[in-house]
Amino acid sequence: MRTATELLADYEAWTPGSKRWMASARECLPGGDTRASAHFAPYPVVMERGEGCRLVDVDGHEYLDLMNNFTSLIHGHAHAPVVKAVGEQVARGSAYAAPVESQVGLARLLRDRVPGVDLVRFASSGSEATLMTLRAARAFTGRQKIVKVEGGYHGSYDHAEVSMIPLPGEAGPPDRPRPIPLDASIAKSALGDIIPIPYNDPEVARARIAEHGDEIAAIIVEPILGALGMLPGEIDFLRALREAADAVGALLVFDEVIALRLGMGGAQDRMGVGPDLIAMGKIIGGGLPIGAFGGRRDLMECFDPSRQGGVWHASTFSGNPLSMVAGLAAMRDVTPESLARIDDLGERLRVGVTEAFQRAGVHGQATGLGSLAQIHLTDAPLRNARDSLAGIMRAGPAGQWLHLSLLRRGIYLSPRGMCCISTAMGPGEIDAALAALEDALGALRPLLERELPALLH
Ligand SMILES: Cc1ncc(COP(=O)(O)O)c(C=O)c1O
Repeated sequence: MRTATELLADYEAWTPGSKRWMASARECLPGGDTRASAHFAPYPVVMERGEGCRLVDVDGHEYLDLMNNFTSLIHGHAHAPVVKAVGEQVARGSAYAAPVESQVGLARLLRDRVPGVDLVRFASSGSEATLMTLRAARAFTGRQKIVKVEGGYHGSYDHAEVSMIPLPGEAGPPDRPRPIPLDASIAKSALGDIIPIPYNDPEVARARIAEHGDEIAAIIVEPILGALGMLPGEIDFLRALREAADAVGALLVFDEVIALRLGMGGAQDRMGVGPDLIAMGKIIGGGLPIGAFGGRRDLMECFDPSRQGGVWHASTFSGNPLSMVAGLAAMRDVTPESLARIDDLGERLRVGVTEAFQRAGVHGQATGLGSLAQIHLTDAPLRNARDSLAGIMRAGPAGQWLHLSLLRRGIYLSPRGMCCISTAMGPGEIDAALAALEDALGALRPLLERELPALLH
């Protein structure tokens, strides 16, 4: 039996190059890191290159990439049309402070595919895109408050990071959640602007929205709760938000930065409930940095620079030609057929994960929808962020043990167990990932028996 200490020692012995690189990175980056979501203990694997659905680290180990840069690479790495488009563009210059034709090409593609999008505007990140939808909502309604789901992640800025991790004991009662900051850096003024609601609870949503009625500028929601569990939004909940927004004159914003891959017209197309404004990102940049937002003409026209009293939005790399041509090349290869294929692979992965846990006698399951999935070390029902957090806390160090054990078996997924499928994968890759999971659970079982027997059947 491997002890927890031996598991960590195995990982370190197996990744000497990453360990060395991280030690030198600590000399000039805080903790060797520049992106919190990609960091994990004891140190992350340092990658050397990516090709299709594979990554290769600095020690020469190959991984099946189930992370795809947190869902942004729908075709995996170095997708040939993207490489060609970016290569041709970079030779003509990477950014000019001027409009370029490819902006119209990508905007038109998004407008033609995504229901309710009359006009589009580009940004440099998903964070900027969600932020600008909220600012548009404030300008349009003249109101200040934002209704936000607990555990919802909309990017790195104050309002978006309120109630991101609703820890028990801090977050208040589930039918009346308290706005809580992610950390000490969040502006106190942002707390007062946010009305948190639990995911997938139409009753509480209706009550909280009615209570604050004419103070609410926007209700922002992910159609699938990404960061805290890959939990699909229930149709009744999304409908309740739509109706409540209309009843109080607030705007409904869908954050589809992750969810857009759930349909040709995004998640709203699949779920049959539509927002007033939508924020997009990740896959639409073909692997390069991007964000975009769009919606009804009368709302989006506030960004028309020739308008008096409009909303100012400037960003040095917004609409840069590299992201535009990469996005166009990638999105042209997102077709009903390619989406159906990765959705099927996603289902194969989710079903297989849950079966692997059952066979190993370990509490666990996969949640998700379409090509998105997340592994949880609990088999309790999961409908909102508090459910996910309870599972994470009950699992304690087992989350890290499983993550490192999967890395050691060549499966690259997020430390919290998030996975997604790229079009570069086929059934063979999914089955290999499932075999690695089964092997990892078998190897971990004796350690779990000794340290965390509550996780076993
Ligand atoms: C749902 C959602 N919205 C917004 C963002 C922020 O996007 P970005 O990291 O490009 O700023 C993310 C990033 O993971 C996300 O998952």
